[in-house]
Amino acid sequence: MSGRRIEIAPSILSADFSDIREAVGQVEASGAGIVHFDIMDGVFVPQITFGPKLVKDIRPHSSLVFDAHLMITSPESQIDRFIDAGCDYITIHQESTIHLHRALTQIRNGGARCGISIVPSTPVSSIVPLLDMVDLVLVMTVNPGFGGQKLIQSCLDKIVQLAEIRKAEDFDFLISVDGGVNLDTIQDVVAAGADIAVTGSAFFDSDDRGAFIRKMHELALESFS
Ligand code: DX5
Ligand code: ZN
Repeated sequence: MSGRRIEIAPSILSADFSDIREAVGQVEASGAGIVHFDIMDGVFVPQITFGPKLVKDIRPHSSLVFDAHLMITSPESQIDRFIDAGCDYITIHQESTIHLHRALTQIRNGGARCGISIVPSTPVSSIVPLLDMVDLVLVMTVNPGFGGQKLIQSCLDKIVQLAEIRKAEDFDFLISVDGGVNLDTIQDVVAAGADIAVTGSAFFDSDDRGAFIRKMHELALESFS
């Protein structure tokens, strides 16, 4: 046994938006420990989802870890609102602002954990100078903007690279993977070295969400070496 463990983080992007509180309750009831909030502004990505007020209104109704994935331009202007909303992790995109160091520091100083994400066309090398200051790296395995897309296999190499750098430099960030993660792909994601697997459509499409989470853990366990 390696002692490794994977966290499954359902994304409510694929939930029924007319009842987000109920959807977060379903995530909690499934046995998952993290809920992933996809924040989209219609500029950085084509779709618009929701903002910090919704997250803040749900916060008192859940004890899950709140993981906010900001797919928005100029995230600096919204970071304080997401901190105030009670997010545990706030992840911004490498491609979303020039002043990444300042924005990550803003998250950290506000009391939340900070994450950096890269889209499929962005290499790991572009975030190496930041790896000593982040709590989480979110590797996108689809082009962000929509749920239900197919995982781009070549992006898994970035997880391997990040795990190697973390080991060599003795860093302690978590590696999270987002996009196209389901029962068919979880083993590849785990084998590459991920710590957190975000899953949206596969979770909300399953009839028995608790069984889905258990199956994901079972499959993950087979892949730990
Ligand atoms: C995509 C989002 C993802 C999305 C994943 O832009 O960042 O979190 O919800 O959905 P699936 O699991 O359906 O690919
Ligand atoms: Zn996401």
